[in-house]
Amino acid sequence: DHLEQLARLVREAGSVVALTGAGISVPSGIPDFRTPTTGIWANVDPMEVAHVDVWRHDPERFWAFYGHRFASLGQIEPNAAHRALAELERRGHLDAVLTQNIDLLHEKAGSRDVVELHGSIAGCHCPACGHRTGLDETLRLISSAPDGVPRCGVCAGVLKPDVVLFGDMLPAAAITRAERLALGADLLLCIGSSLVVFPVSELPAATLSAGGRLAVVTASETPYDDAAAVRLGGDVVDELTGLLAALDRL
Ligand code: OAD
Ligand code: ZN
Repeated sequence: DHLEQLARLVREAGSVVALTGAGISVPSGIPDFRTPTTGIWANVDPMEVAHVDVWRHDPERFWAFYGHRFASLGQIEPNAAHRALAELERRGHLDAVLTQNIDLLHEKAGSRDVVELHGSIAGCHCPACGHRTGLDETLRLISSAPDGVPRCGVCAGVLKPDVVLFGDMLPAAAITRAERLALGADLLLCIGSSLVVFPVSELPAATLSAGGRLAVVTASETPYDDAAAVRLGGDVVDELTGLLAALDRL
């Protein structure tokens, strides 16, 4: 079956790299972005809340969205799919996790090598003076501000989260490392992502061009389904715990 096939690919590959998106955190209770009806971008236009111009020109609207997001993401726990990736790494089957998620759940689940392509909720900075705040302090600043906008304690500038916004530069070091890992991967395990947002949309092509293989584990269709050696469309928790069990059986 497909899980056994994937387990064989994992065991035979010299380098396995995981690439994750919002779908892996859905079983933790966080909506993804593009699933019809429940996805965040099915309900709110990203250009109206998550674009750098909104942060710049309408910080109240920006922080009304991100303040809620930071508060809810800070409280959730990793699920068995995150833990399965940490276990694969401990067993020596996984080199690194490349993630578009900002929720820190891979780290919380025990993954050691995590490359955050879109930043994380761990902190904010003041672009005006460089001052930094952590998650807890940011949440305190948000709830104590009359307009819900967290401001720098040094210069009163509006804080900016350490996450990639639409219209922002991507974190160069993380992208470079992700490209290198994707090129070197014998197997790129794509999990819970629609694989449509640049630069993640290019990473599976990089793996393929270097002679590596793809596995796609996600509910919806992706542009790489036909190119994948294995395609699994069940729930991420079932598929990844199933993968661990299939590896045990080999
Ligand atoms: P998407 O919402 O585009 O894709 C999530 C994928 O996970 C879809 O293929 C879903 O079908 C699948 N999925 C959801 N729940 C699942 C489950 N329980 N089991 C299996 N599959 C499941 O999310 P991303 O690909 O992560 O960027 O989106 C990429 C980027 O777009 C995000 O990082 C965000 C967004 O705009 C920024 O905000 C800059
Ligand atoms: Zn400042």
